[in-house]
Amino acid sequence: MSEKLTKLTISESLSLPVDVARRVFSFLAIRGAGKTYCAAGLAEEMIKAGIPIIVIDPMGVWWGLQVGKDGKGRGYPIVVFGGEHQNLPLEPENAEKIADAIVTSNISCVLDISELSQTQTQKLIVAFVNELRRINIQDRHIFIEEADVIAPQKPMRDEVYCLNAVDKLVRRGGNRNLGCTLISQRSAVVNKNVLTQSDFLVVLRTNAPQDKLAVAAWAVKHSQNKKKLNAWLDSLSDLEDGEAYIWGPDMNIPGVRIKFRERETFHATRENLKRYDASKIKPMDVGEFIKKYKYAFEGKKPIDTQKPEQKLEHTSQAKIVDENEPRKDAVERGVQIPSNVAHTTELGGIDNKPGSSQSMKVEQSLPNITIQQFTPILSIPVEMLKHPTTPLGKAVVVLKSFDGRADQWTLKLIKEQIKNHAWDDSGVDEAVDQLIRWEILKRKHNYLRFDKERVTIIQVKVDENEQGITVKMGFVQGVEQ
Ligand SMILES: Nc1ncnc2c1ncn2[C@@H]1O[C@H](COP(=O)(O)OP(=O)(O)OP(=O)(O)O)[C@@H](O)[C@H]1O
Ligand SMILES: [Mg+2]
Repeated sequence: MSEKLTKLTISESLSLPVDVARRVFSFLAIRGAGKTYCAAGLAEEMIKAGIPIIVIDPMGVWWGLQVGKDGKGRGYPIVVFGGEHQNLPLEPENAEKIADAIVTSNISCVLDISELSQTQTQKLIVAFVNELRRINIQDRHIFIEEADVIAPQKPMRDEVYCLNAVDKLVRRGGNRNLGCTLISQRSAVVNKNVLTQSDFLVVLRTNAPQDKLAVAAWAVKHSQNKKKLNAWLDSLSDLEDGEAYIWGPDMNIPGVRIKFRERETFHATRENLKRYDASKIKPMDVGEFIKKYKYAFEGKKPIDTQKPEQKLEHTSQAKIVDENEPRKDAVERGVQIPSNVAHTTELGGIDNKPGSSQSMKVEQSLPNITIQQFTPILSIPVEMLKHPTTPLGKAVVVLKSFDGRADQWTLKLIKEQIKNHAWDDSGVDEAVDQLIRWEILKRKHNYLRFDKERVTIIQVKVDENEQGITVKMGFVQGVEQ
């Protein structure tokens, strides 16, 4: 799979010149019509032509580019940041660093955002896309799945920043040799300003009249033959999986019907993973890049260059009490505690499970130490149940006291429950993000699953002057080199 191509053969009947990688594509269709599959075919062509690609992947399926078609053998050398199949972690704070690294190395990558919250996703995309636009020079192509969420027609509050970043990418990315592909199953709610910038419209099976209208709005601008346009819109419902109409007015592609070629790499949808026994699928090792950037993104240093004492010097307010060997080992290997740990203390006393074998005691306010990954067990003092004072406290109290299903939470529902108690819900987005980071809430499809066991209610006296409040955390992961 290493021969360099001079054209992108996306179907038996259609090849595109390589420089379309600097242009904007939109792939639109209903669920299951083949958007991801066919866009991945285009991605494979670009990689073969020596054009690095980046995928923003909310579904966690694009890692399949690393694996051969049947889940066996090698695919392409792509670095996967974040998600279940990650080579390197994806922290929104590192967005610019990641952009710099992939531009410097000219590597293809997937940013698997499937485990990030909406707030984290927005933050990541704004920083990443803006930095990319600032520094990119050579041809590069970004695939954006769920473009209707990332660039919505009606942005709410902070969504506007993300929309602006994508809008600029679409409008001006070409000046920086950045092309992009927007993928959406909800054509009607993709931002029209963004959609109309598409140089290529790829429409797979589409049924809903409002989605057809959105497609028509684009096509009307580019079509001279209105009669043909109507017939074309009618036939969109009849397209088979992987069949599409493609329009590229600048290239004289006037709405031709094509069948995308089969993928060369693994289409890692849930159904396919079941079919191919996921445990046997071995993604490709993109060792060199990972070795080079591991410490940059994981916030760790190799053991031999590390000086733990120096790290702790900066933390004059923090006192770390090691309670056992594994924990000590973790600290010495450079595991850091984020400053946001201070949030946890606002709960009014968080404790780890009695008898937990790996624990440490950290006094409140830790400005300079950060833990990279940790899974605390929260304890709520009984007296706090009625009047939690912080967003985190409120979120945890409603989660813990709810009688219904623990696996069907959403941010909206948590806020509703908080409001039902007549409590203010400001700051709850961040609190929920925090609970997701700690895996007390775990994302599953469109829902959040609350791990009840990780929150206990205890009888403790909370020290009012806060000086004595302690945070204990049980480590589960994040200490391996
Ligand atoms: N060109 C093609 N050749 C062969 N099979 C295809 C082709 N395109 C799509 N398919 C089939 O269609 C199925 C659905 O495709 P895909 O997962 O890309 O849909 P989608 O539009 O991205 O759906 P969703 O909106 O749920 O993400 C694939 O699993 C594959 O079996
Ligand atoms: Mg898809």
